[in-house]
Amino acid sequence: MASLPEIQAMKRALEIALPGGKAVFPNPMVGAVILDSSSNIVGEGFHEKCGGPHAEIAALSEAGAAASSGTIVVTLEPCCHYGRTGPCTDAIIMAGIRRVVIAMSDPHPNVSGKGVMQLESAGIEVETGVLFKEAELLNRVYLHYLKTSRSWVTLKMALSMAGRTAAKDGGSRWLSCEESRKQVHLMRASVQAVMTGAGTVRDDDPRLNSRSPEYTGEQPVRIVVSATGDLGNSRKIFDNPGRIIIAVPESVSADLTEFQNMYEADIWEFPADSSGYGFNLTLLLERTASEGFGEILCECGRGLATTLLRKQLVNTLSVFTTPLILGGEGLPAFDELGIDSMASAIRLENVRSSLSGTDTHLEGEVVYGTD
Ligand SMILES: NC(=O)c1ccc[n+]([C@@H]2O[C@H](COP(=O)([O-])OP(=O)(O)OC[C@H]3O[C@@H](n4cnc5c(N)ncnc54)[C@H](OP(=O)(O)O)[C@@H]3O)[C@@H](O)[C@H]2O)c1
Repeated sequence: MASLPEIQAMKRALEIALPGGKAVFPNPMVGAVILDSSSNIVGEGFHEKCGGPHAEIAALSEAGAAASSGTIVVTLEPCCHYGRTGPCTDAIIMAGIRRVVIAMSDPHPNVSGKGVMQLESAGIEVETGVLFKEAELLNRVYLHYLKTSRSWVTLKMALSMAGRTAAKDGGSRWLSCEESRKQVHLMRASVQAVMTGAGTVRDDDPRLNSRSPEYTGEQPVRIVVSATGDLGNSRKIFDNPGRIIIAVPESVSADLTEFQNMYEADIWEFPADSSGYGFNLTLLLERTASEGFGEILCECGRGLATTLLRKQLVNTLSVFTTPLILGGEGLPAFDELGIDSMASAIRLENVRSSLSGTDTHLEGEVVYGTD
């Protein structure tokens, strides 16, 4: 059983893994802490970016000789294969580590239990499953990508108290308070891509970039999804720097040459969906993942939100509820989702709730109903 210092070290490892963020994709975020034989922390490290040193190597190099006879506490099973870097298991064995405490096994086919086996064959004691749930949440984007080859979708919406996304005339500025809008700019900075529907582009003329003063990195790629190719006269999204992708069915892509020529937008075309409406959004999310977009923040109206939920493509729902009533005439957040009973309700797990200025922020991972 893991000791108290080991559990505390795992909490620390989970915390220090976080700054890896979007830069590590398609790798996982990993943190590692080395304890010496008296349970003092002698080294720490995290995986900073894809292709860079793994957390275990960074922690071992900080610990140096102090790692000998110590314990390494790591959020994911150490790798045992040659990828962009050498196997971490070899480095752990070479450093003279006696015990390895792991939060979760790595389902990657190149690792998947083989890392643990190699360590145990070298006579090292291994314990797996310490703060498993927390590690699973930390690496939801990585785990989802391994399972589905798709990007993780976080659907963010600002809603009135009764779940309306806009007033009757389509206006939704500003539903959320200033503090929530600041948070949204940080959310945009934390992902590789922000996605919206053509309806929002036409109605709101959004920029969808991160204007957070704390953020100086690259702007997220912006993706506009359209079934008709009609983006109206809104152009703010194109007037701001950064890559833009317009995703449309093949039948309308020829109408978008203006955007290609004037704004260097990438036009992604997909075969028409068998339903006769738009295209299959699963194909879009496979393509975004293959382009290196681990997580996509979707900020859209009810049209795209409904399509994504119907296809079970939303992974995290992030809702800012504002103390405001727009009446039954306000625009609802979703159209019909085929939910006929409580059993088929869409629910959230790992729910995080907080106050955001005068709004309530509720976020969690989506669990689709069973009916
Ligand atoms: N409160 C909030 O958080 C929030 C956020 C954003 C927007 N809004 C409000 O929402 C309203 C706009 O709603 P909306 O439903 O029109 O906007 P939307 O959801 O942003 O866009 C809907 C459009 O997405 C495209 N689309 C959806 N599924 C598709 C598929 N499978 N294939 C291809 N294209 C697909 C279609 O484009 P085409 O039109 O080209 O067919 C569809 O009309 C505005 O009033 C806006 O202010 C509120």
